[in-house]
Amino acid sequence: MDLPKPWVDGPFGLIPASTSGDSTGKRAVGARACSSEMTVVHNTIIRGANAIYLQAVNVEKLGTPKDQSDFVYFALRWAERLHEHHNTEETMLFPAINEITKMPTLMDGNLEEHLAFQTGLEDFTGYLESVHEQITVYDGTKTRALMNNFMPALHGHLWNEIDTLNALEKWDEMVDWPVWFRDRVSARVSGLMKESRFRTELFPLAFILHDKTWENGLWSAFPPIPWGITIVLRWLFVRKKDDWWRFAGCDYDSMPKELPFA
Ligand SMILES: [Fe+2]
Repeated sequence: MDLPKPWVDGPFGLIPASTSGDSTGKRAVGARACSSEMTVVHNTIIRGANAIYLQAVNVEKLGTPKDQSDFVYFALRWAERLHEHHNTEETMLFPAINEITKMPTLMDGNLEEHLAFQTGLEDFTGYLESVHEQITVYDGTKTRALMNNFMPALHGHLWNEIDTLNALEKWDEMVDWPVWFRDRVSARVSGLMKESRFRTELFPLAFILHDKTWENGLWSAFPPIPWGITIVLRWLFVRKKDDWWRFAGCDYDSMPKELPFA
């Protein structure tokens, strides 16, 4: 996309599909199909971080108090979605992978990496909460500085985890990883979708932080839910918080759009 303003593909670089060996010409199979899907999810996290980082200062300089308040909500929901992602991995995915592979410490490196950015992320969310509660005023430079404290560790982790998942191809003969992965994720998402706050305040991020055009549309069908249900979800839940979602790099159809404050 050729836009005059910076966009959510930087400054923190997106993970290319080639990391898992996936391409439109030759789709990844086995464990690499899962690592490709995890790449898509991790890139939503990276696009969200970029949207916050790129707009943090201008929201303070050029935005109204309402813009600042909406932006803080957007950033907090991003952080909450990130926390939920890592919580699912720590409590469900990683222990199950250790068990299936009979390698009890296989995923420990990833858990250690989670810890490496935890404190910085908590400082970031704590600050945004204090702005939301009107204990302190919004400061874009401070927001960026707080991100600088944890983003290198988080960004590195999001890349490294893809390599760990690629290595699971060693067990491809033994496990149908794509079916296993999809079943686990579906069960988790179905549970979360029963909560109305998840449907309106967190799930929409799957649409607006994903770019359908990424890698020639390799993952244009994301999130992996039937087309009809996607339409219903968009109309019923995604639009409810329009004011927050305007800071994302893509629209409700996961198509790229300009960042209002970049
Ligand atoms: Fe992950």
